[in-house]
Amino acid sequence: MYSEIVPHRITAAEVAAKQPAALILSGGPKSVHVEGAPSLDPAIYELGIPILGICYGAQLIAQQLGGTVGRGHRGEYGRARLTRLRDAVSSLLPDDLDDVDVWMSHFDAVTEVPPGFVATASTPDAPVAAMENPERRIWGVQYHPEVVHTPSGSALIDRFLHELAGIGDTWTMASIIDEQVAAVRAQVGTGRVICALSGGVDSAVAAALVHRAIGAQLVCIYVDTGLMRLNESDQVVETFKRNMGIELIHVDAGQRYFEKLAGVTEPETKRKIIGELFVRIFEAHTGGLSDAEYLVQGTLYPDVIESGGSDGTAAVIKSHHNVGGLPEDMTLKLVEPLRMLFKDEVRKLGRELGLPDEIVMRQPFPGPGLGVRIIGEVTPERVAILQHADAIVREEIREAGLERELWQAFAVLADIRSVGVMGDERTYAHPIIIRAVTSDDAMTADWARLPYDLLETMSNRIINEVRGVNRVAYDITSKPPGTIEWE
Ligand code: XMP
Repeated sequence: MYSEIVPHRITAAEVAAKQPAALILSGGPKSVHVEGAPSLDPAIYELGIPILGICYGAQLIAQQLGGTVGRGHRGEYGRARLTRLRDAVSSLLPDDLDDVDVWMSHFDAVTEVPPGFVATASTPDAPVAAMENPERRIWGVQYHPEVVHTPSGSALIDRFLHELAGIGDTWTMASIIDEQVAAVRAQVGTGRVICALSGGVDSAVAAALVHRAIGAQLVCIYVDTGLMRLNESDQVVETFKRNMGIELIHVDAGQRYFEKLAGVTEPETKRKIIGELFVRIFEAHTGGLSDAEYLVQGTLYPDVIESGGSDGTAAVIKSHHNVGGLPEDMTLKLVEPLRMLFKDEVRKLGRELGLPDEIVMRQPFPGPGLGVRIIGEVTPERVAILQHADAIVREEIREAGLERELWQAFAVLADIRSVGVMGDERTYAHPIIIRAVTSDDAMTADWARLPYDLLETMSNRIINEVRGVNRVAYDITSKPPGTIEWE
């Protein structure tokens, strides 16, 4: 179903204007007792819109409606046993829910429910783990139904949204396509639209969606920097040009990148060179499309939230995900058909639009590409070594069925050499470092505990198959203190 995230400062009038079918008040790290703790316009509680408060949200309801939130309670962090209070009738808790594990993370706790509310469940350290006032259509839970560690959590959210708030499952991928197709048509009319494809999921899905809306009015530009993964450029061209019939300008710029990068070893200088050249090439090719008025961007909902505007005013360019960012003085208007979606929804949408799994299930790949995975100078020979080793890493990860469990898995080429022996010969060659991490958002990451057998297969294959490599190491650094990429 369709949802929007809005700041807690929203007024009751603004909420009413949006006509939401339900409100969920999220958890948060503050205590309701500290100064500056987020609070709600109390008139929101009078709108008659069903409300579910979770954790901090439940405490806020208790505090604002006349209950008590106790301080200095013994906090509860992690798994807790939830029991239904005897004789409590609950419209929220599923009927068979009693004596189950739930996930808790709180210090304060509701000790007294507001007038008109009843407590329906408790845990050892939260006397009011669930409370409700069905007449006012307000419910609250101290625990976190939204996390996987609360097995009954989705059933509770389902019940709130479907039965108590009466919302149907109308927000489907097909309806998103229809809506966005209509919106793109309305926005661009007969105007010419351009899109820079990076090979990543977001720009691919955005382009496919816009193409569905306006067909040949869309021209895509794909700059092959020569720093892509093995066969990646062929795949982009194959998918977009041959299979989808999208007009694609494929700029084979590898040689220009290698010339600019010759002799450069400093990581940030490399990034800058790669970014600037991208902008120059992009401008040179869109200069020929002088009638283009619009630029497609694969901005997602988290980018919109991060840039502070879920109200549609913060149309910022997502620079980190572009190679170096597009020119600041660009006068093109943005078309952002994915700005209401999360990553998993974008992937589903991509499938629905007919994009192959190799594109929609892709792991994130940095804009500067293999340029930041080759320590030291970037040369065509070193790119070829890394592409080969990286292809082996990814192939073996896929074979082992681990691709979707990992945030990223790739190879890095170091600029040191070590001694080895192969057959009867002494070798003096480069090591490949394997990097595989789990993460939810790349802000933090943990090194993946890959099975030894898998590491062994990758190591053997890389040393046997990739000339110029005689040693393989596995990176066991988390983020922080390391970063995911090596440069
Ligand atoms: P780090 O290395 O900072 O990476 O832990 C976090 C995530 O961002 C990706 N990354 C980049 N993406 N341009 C990009 O488009 C970049 O310059 C860049 N540097 C890192 C990285 O692959 C990881 O997913």
